[in-house]
Amino acid sequence: MRRRRKTVEVAVIRRLLTFAICAIALIGFLSVHIYVAPLHKLSRLHLKNHNRHTTHREDVTDDEIKSSIITEQSSKRNFSRPESIKARFISDYKKNEIQYQSSASEYINNTHEQVPAHFSTNPSSKLNVTSKTPDFDKLWKPPPNRNFVPCVNPNPNYTPSLESRGYLLVHTNGGLNQMRAGICDMVAIARIINATLVVPELDKRSFWQDSSKFKDVFDEDHFINALSKDVKVIKKLPKGISGLTKVVKHFKSYSGLSYYQKEIASMWDEYKVIRAAKSDSRLVNNNLPPDIQKLRCRACYEALRFSHKIETMGKLLVDRMRSYGLYIALHLRYEKDMLAFSGCNHGLSASEAAELRKIRQNTAYWKVKDIDGKVQRLKGFCPLTPKEVGILLTALGYSSNTPIYIAAGEIYGGESRLASTLGSRFSMLMSKEKLATKEELKPFMNHSTQMAALDYIVSIESDVFIPSYSGNMARAVEGHRRYLGHRKTISPDRKGIVRLIDKIGRGAEKDNRQVYEKIIEIHKTRQGSPRRRTGPATGAKGLERHRSEESFYENPLPECLCQRDPSRRR
Ligand SMILES: *[C@@H]1O[C@H](CO)[C@@H](O)[C@H](O)[C@H]1NC(C)=O
Ligand SMILES: *[C@@H]1O[C@H](CO)[C@@H](O)[C@H](O)[C@H]1NC(C)=O
Ligand SMILES: *[C@@H]1O[C@H](CO)[C@@H](O)[C@H](O)[C@H]1NC(C)=O
Ligand SMILES: *[C@@H]1O[C@H](CO)[C@@H](O)[C@H](O)[C@H]1NC(C)=O
Ligand SMILES: *[C@@H]1O[C@H](CO)[C@@H](O)[C@H](O)[C@H]1NC(C)=O
Repeated sequence: MRRRRKTVEVAVIRRLLTFAICAIALIGFLSVHIYVAPLHKLSRLHLKNHNRHTTHREDVTDDEIKSSIITEQSSKRNFSRPESIKARFISDYKKNEIQYQSSASEYINNTHEQVPAHFSTNPSSKLNVTSKTPDFDKLWKPPPNRNFVPCVNPNPNYTPSLESRGYLLVHTNGGLNQMRAGICDMVAIARIINATLVVPELDKRSFWQDSSKFKDVFDEDHFINALSKDVKVIKKLPKGISGLTKVVKHFKSYSGLSYYQKEIASMWDEYKVIRAAKSDSRLVNNNLPPDIQKLRCRACYEALRFSHKIETMGKLLVDRMRSYGLYIALHLRYEKDMLAFSGCNHGLSASEAAELRKIRQNTAYWKVKDIDGKVQRLKGFCPLTPKEVGILLTALGYSSNTPIYIAAGEIYGGESRLASTLGSRFSMLMSKEKLATKEELKPFMNHSTQMAALDYIVSIESDVFIPSYSGNMARAVEGHRRYLGHRKTISPDRKGIVRLIDKIGRGAEKDNRQVYEKIIEIHKTRQGSPRRRTGPATGAKGLERHRSEESFYENPLPECLCQRDPSRRR
């Protein structure tokens, strides 16, 4: 009898508990539901926030959505941007500049290492994350950095700028990130051949058709001053030396020290001005003296800074992105040129595939014309599609209201493709066009290099960076994030991902969760933690050997990142 009463009591308690759990779950569901507002609602919500009408946030009606689209411009103008935030950024910027100048002036001191101050030391530490979920660490925590810190000071017997034997003019080529790497290499080359470097000219003829000059994109004076102990840099060839002998030279790609010391430096006997016709991949990745490698890092991560105008706008975008919380920067290389060049047409309509094929046929400098997109994709050579990226992010556990910054030019298929693929899983897709007003973006709009620089800044400062393809931008940002303290960078295993995703498509896996777990598994070692740069592919010879190496700027370890205290190795 007593025993029976006890079981009844237990049953009642169990029912109460079940009810309580259900209630909590329901509340949780509702609050998530409120959060998962589509983009256009979002700015509306902000507007309401500002106007202190926050009580009925969940009751956004369709009419309001429509009116919010119409008033988008006005709501954007208000949107998360009290003037004080702007002012704070500008003053932070100035403060950093002063800090940086003092550290730059004593950089020959080996005992004094620090992260350059113009990027924050730890992006997530700025935020007060109060609602840590159980998955928080898995999703956002940077990988262990095992005490690796920048070590870019030259060794004690490094001589300040050597006597110049002539002038090095540089014509850079490619988009922003290819030019960046080329400029840093040319600094090192100028040092090797004892040249005075004239501030490089940016590429105006490439695919990107941008008329920007060096000083529009980079801080020219800072570049010159920061390198003053390494290489003499001047703004232009001095006047009145027109009688000097000049030569235009294509430096051999992936060349080492002896090529520059012998073959190129011997040209000083005949010429006083050497003009490098191209800047990309002219210097080998490995087997250079440590002082030259460290100089490449000082050039790229300390001397080469964006112009004040770009830095200020970049910080503003970062600040607006942060107002949504921790965020992912997604480099979605799903742009027309990329797809046409690579022949990747998975998920496209027949007419889109035909359009891309035609572009490829008609572009003379793309040598390979017949490409089987299916084969390329299965080999992992295609950028992930927006849909595939969506599945990847879901598999990794990011919730549908995770703020995502799309770092890209125009997505092929436009906003509607983005909305119907990635947007159906993730509601907070942002971009510079959505975060800033037309008016604010206007100075950058017709300059693809400057627009790319804004994406670069937001990507560097993101809590998590994910590139959908391993191109120049992906490599540059990944390396810079390593340098700044191994910020979390997820490098998708594209080959593994497409195979697993195809399993879901074929229905071969009943439960998506199993596929998701495999996706998590193959990315455990792709989080951006410290490791040595990988060498050439086995069996590769000659140029191919150099080409197959991991790029210096993708991972400047071991030369520019050293372990502070090896005894604390984990
Ligand atoms: C913000 O928007 C509201 C409504 O559109 C407008 O009345 C107000 O003047 C705006 N405030 C600022 C600072 O632009
Ligand atoms: C190098 O740094 C140490 C420690 O910060 C300092 O005591 C020393 O004066 C510095 N030397 C130079 C040449 O700046
Ligand atoms: C962060 O949040 C905690 C708890 O909510 C609070 O006590 C603390 O003051 C906050 N810190 C900052 C810097 O806002
Ligand atoms: C550069 O100058 C240094 C010091 O004067 C000299 O030792 C070196 O051989 C020079 N290098 C070249 C390539 O001229
Ligand atoms: C950008 O270029 C286009 C076409 O060359 C021109 O019509 C437009 O006015 C330019 N916009 C700005 C903001 O300079």
